[in-house]
Amino acid sequence: MPRLPAPPLPRALRPKPRRPGEGTVPIDPVEAVAEAGITVVDWLDERTSLSPGVRWLLFRKVPRGINWAYTLGSATMFAFLSQAVTGVFLAMYYEPNVQGGAYESIRNINDNVFLGQFVHGMHKWGASVMIILIYLHMARVFFFGAYKYPREITWIIGVVLLILTMAMGFTGYLLPFDQRAYWATIVGVNINGTGPFIGPYLSDFLRAGPEFGATTLSRFYAIHMLLIPGLMAALIGFHLYLVTKLGISAPPWLKAEEPEEAVQVVEV
Ligand code: HEM
Repeated sequence: MPRLPAPPLPRALRPKPRRPGEGTVPIDPVEAVAEAGITVVDWLDERTSLSPGVRWLLFRKVPRGINWAYTLGSATMFAFLSQAVTGVFLAMYYEPNVQGGAYESIRNINDNVFLGQFVHGMHKWGASVMIILIYLHMARVFFFGAYKYPREITWIIGVVLLILTMAMGFTGYLLPFDQRAYWATIVGVNINGTGPFIGPYLSDFLRAGPEFGATTLSRFYAIHMLLIPGLMAALIGFHLYLVTKLGISAPPWLKAEEPEEAVQVVEV
């Protein structure tokens, strides 16, 4: 794949040309404040050399004719981040204890904790929003043919992300530990058990044994808040690396053009 030339620095970060005599007269305070941002960026960059990486990630050429459907991947990512942040706050009050602790801790979050019901609601409804967004994003990629060469691996990682997102929904459903959560999970685990070859092993793994017991809840909690989110964060990182490296695919209705004409520079 031909390497694209480095995109120009955004105007705000370009150093201003020096005026004659500058440096000898006192600096205008307004200008000094305006340039403070540049100084901070310079200071950081001198020590970390991070700016080429940030420019590689953010200042990319995008194909002509892209539309709102191309924002669905970022919307899914935002839903994931929102779930992660609200989940951290819920975990501060949640107790994975089957002797009434789990159920009571959710009641406590809803009734007593400051903004608890709001954060719990965001997490609960956010789960459905994320599922809807991920399917819409996948549909966009499929109908625009964006899964084809050279983006096959981006697609395959997407499929794994889809499975993990649904596994998050499944493992999260048990956590309130009310009647609905309990019986829905029994049904779900039994359905898993009917799968060919690995089915029985999978249901034993999920139950943490042959019977649904106290450790089942701890297992679901650990999978829900440590195992899957960690995997997803790593896979989303790789997904985005590939999206950045390969560039966004052009809409299928655009006629093939010479590379120089098919792209336009987006300057921020
Ligand atoms: C947590 C889930 C996911 C996140 C956060 C995510 C994020 C993104 C983002 C930000 C983009 C670039 C912008 C865009 O095209 O919308 C993208 C592109 C892409 N995604 Fe996803 N994605 C996810 C799931 C999936 C799934 C389930 C699939 C397919 C099975 C998929 C396949 C792709 C492909 C092939 C591209 C490249 C599209 C192109 O170049 O036009 N992604 N993804």
